[in-house]
Amino acid sequence: MRLKPFRLERYFAKHEFTAPFLLCSSDCESMPLKDLLALEPGAADRFGALWLGYTESAGHPELRRAIAALYERISADQVLVHTGAEEAIFNFMNVALNPGDHVIVHAPYYQSLGEVARSIGAHVAEWRGDAQRGWELDIDLLQAALTPRTKLVVVNFPHNPTGFLPEHELVRQLVSLSERHGFIIFSDEVYRGLELDPSDRLPALSDLSHRAVSLGVMSKTYGLAGLRIGWLATRNRHLFSELAAFKDYTTICNSAPSEFLATLALRKAGVIVERNLRIIHRNLDHLDAFFACHQDLFDWRRPRAGSVAFPALLQGTVERFCADLVKTSGVLLLPGTLYGKGLNAFRVGFGRNNVPEALERLKEHLRTSR
Ligand SMILES: Cc1ncc(COP(=O)(O)O)c(C=O)c1O
Repeated sequence: MRLKPFRLERYFAKHEFTAPFLLCSSDCESMPLKDLLALEPGAADRFGALWLGYTESAGHPELRRAIAALYERISADQVLVHTGAEEAIFNFMNVALNPGDHVIVHAPYYQSLGEVARSIGAHVAEWRGDAQRGWELDIDLLQAALTPRTKLVVVNFPHNPTGFLPEHELVRQLVSLSERHGFIIFSDEVYRGLELDPSDRLPALSDLSHRAVSLGVMSKTYGLAGLRIGWLATRNRHLFSELAAFKDYTTICNSAPSEFLATLALRKAGVIVERNLRIIHRNLDHLDAFFACHQDLFDWRRPRAGSVAFPALLQGTVERFCADLVKTSGVLLLPGTLYGKGLNAFRVGFGRNNVPEALERLKEHLRTSR
């Protein structure tokens, strides 16, 4: 297996800890350890007394129960905890796919969702959203792309980088196609819970179908990326036991402190997500105002969910634009070309507290450079 460099992660490795204004982060604002512990009386003492031996390979039972509570039909024993979403993607692809399998990925995509499949020897085709229609997906295009060898369809709702969230009907059509055709659905739901209008929240795919696997993580909606706690949820027993066995070769089990803290955070999910949504609403108002003043330069569409969006740049090339911006103003945007050739757009992230300040810097940059 040979993996190509992960373009987006290499870009972050270069800039994330040097650029002072990150305006493209996909996670919500994090918090110090002491603030998380303060959410529950006695938590700090219990954390201090935590045993640091190996933990249960599938995840701490209490954590698995807290994760299962996020779903309608998933029980704790149908949840497999991983080290971040990234390990879960890697392990899932390795378990589900063989060389020569056909995989269709919702595009543009977070690179590992297609790259790991490709490195295994699968043929990866795209189900591409239509940029002219707010990155809308067309179920007929998916149907036309299916082959007798299609083993897996990968989707990501709410979507990174575009912020696209489909209507409920598309998800129902996807599940019914999967049942008729027999493919597995890998549903990356790491931004689920960040719908601006809660009634837009889609059901988890693992709740809708035995053929689906849902991916979740503490990093985005909960803003706790440093815990590196992610999970897979599925009612497919065979796949589940193969996934559990594969994990013995990657991390065996999870970090005990992280499991404790993730369990606590999920018990307090209401408070944490409410805070994060408040930050997002405020930041989106700032972004609306900013883009309204720069309509000649950017094509902005306010997303319905998530913490990222993908405005198009209408003049010049996005790589040059982002490189100049970070060099002269210390504001980091993510050029769309990291997601694929020809995408003259950039990812903007709006889950962090300092977005208004970063936008002021961007405004100043435009004033002086135009
Ligand atoms: C769509 C998507 N899936 C998976 C991941 C990986 O999440 P983590 O870094 O928490 O493992 C990310 C991170 O940016 C993402 O945007």
